[in-house]
Amino acid sequence: MSSPSPRFDSSSGTAVLAAAQEILPWLIEVRRDLHQHPELGLEEFRTSARIQALLDELEIEHVDGIGGTGVLGLLRGHGTGVVALRADIDALPLQDAKDVPYKSQVPGKMHACGHDVHTTCLLGAARLLAAMGEELPGTVKLLFQPAEETVGGAQLLIAAGVLDDPPVEAIFGLHVEPDLDVGRFEVRYGQRNASSDTVTLVIHGRSGHGAYPAGTVDAIVVAAQVISALQTVVSRNVDARECAVVSFGTIQGGVQGNIVANRVELVGTVRCLNPEIRELVLRRVRETAEGVARAFGGEAEVNIESGYDPLINDDDSVALVQRNASGLVGEKNVVVKSTPNMGVEDFAYYLSQVPGAFFSLGVRNEAAGIVHSVHHELFDADENCLAFGVTIQVLNALSVLRR
Ligand code: NI
Repeated sequence: MSSPSPRFDSSSGTAVLAAAQEILPWLIEVRRDLHQHPELGLEEFRTSARIQALLDELEIEHVDGIGGTGVLGLLRGHGTGVVALRADIDALPLQDAKDVPYKSQVPGKMHACGHDVHTTCLLGAARLLAAMGEELPGTVKLLFQPAEETVGGAQLLIAAGVLDDPPVEAIFGLHVEPDLDVGRFEVRYGQRNASSDTVTLVIHGRSGHGAYPAGTVDAIVVAAQVISALQTVVSRNVDARECAVVSFGTIQGGVQGNIVANRVELVGTVRCLNPEIRELVLRRVRETAEGVARAFGGEAEVNIESGYDPLINDDDSVALVQRNASGLVGEKNVVVKSTPNMGVEDFAYYLSQVPGAFFSLGVRNEAAGIVHSVHHELFDADENCLAFGVTIQVLNALSVLRR
C-alpha cells in the first residue's frame, strides 16, 4: 500500500471526504488495474484474486469463492448493527475504443459499465472503515458480486447466505452515471429499475402451396394477428397509471415466397416496475397469444424466461443516502429523479430481502470528454468520482450502524 490508512473524524462528512481524497492515488491505481483486466461474469478470477489480495493487505477478514468468484469481506466493530455494501465486479464483451494508458488490455472485453469503479469504491470504503478499528460501531459486510450483467450474481450471493448470520439490516449499492457531473449524486425513491422477462412465441400452422391457401393455416398471418393483439396488453389491460413495455425484437418464419409458412418464431422482452403488473402482463401475453392463434386454427407455444426482478428502493434508506449526499456536496448537487428506468439491475434481489437503496454516482466531465453512456465503447469515468463514491458508502454504513 502506498500510504498508511488515514485516521479521520468519522462524524463529519467533510472529514471522511478529505480522508478519501488522501487515498485517491491508491484508488486510481486500483481502478486502473481492474480497468485494464476486465473479465466477464463468473470468469472474474483475476479480479477476485486482486480483491482478496487487497483485503489481505488491509487485514480485512474475507470469505472467497462465494457464488463462484464472489468475495465477502467482513469488518467487525463493537456494536450489534449489521450493514452491507455491495459492488458488482464483472465487465462486458465489448472492444475498448478509448485512447488512454489504462485502456483494456483484453481484446473484446471492457469495463464499459463502470463496475471497476464500483469495486474500487467498495475497497476504498473498506480501507477507511477498517482504519476506524475499535471505533467502528458495528459489522460491515462487503459484497463483491460477480455476474451482474449476465446471470444475476446477486442471487448466487443471497443463496450462499451473505444476508444472514448475522442478518443484514440495510444494504447500499451505487452505480456510475455518465449523464451526471462528477461531484453530484442522483437518488430515486421507490421503483428505480424494471423487471425483465424474455418471451419466446412459436406459432404453429399448417403448410401448403401459396396458390391454394384453403386448407392451410398460415403461421405468418396468425403471427401478424398475434402481434397486433399483444399491443393491447399494455394499452387495454394495464392500469394507465402503471408502467409496462412489451416489445418483440425478432420474428422469423417461412421458407419460400410461394409456400405457406407452418412456423413463425418471435422473441421479445417484457419490462415492468411493479411485481403485480408483471404477473398480469405475462399472463395476458400468454393468454392472448394462445387464444388468438387458436382462433385462426393455429397454435402458439409460449415460453417465458424470467429475468431480473424490478428494483424497488426503500424510502427511508433513500432518505438516508440523500441526507448524507446533501451534507457532502450540497442539496443542489443531489438530484431526486422523478422517473424510473426501464433498464434492469440485479441489486433488485437484495432489496426484495432487506431494505436498502441503490443510487447513482456522477462521473461525467465534459471538458475531459468523459460523456459517453455505459455500454459504449468510449465509456470512461472521471476518477475524482472515486473519493465521492468511497465517502458516501462510508457515511451510509455509519448512519445505519449508529441509529
Ligand atoms: Ni452496470
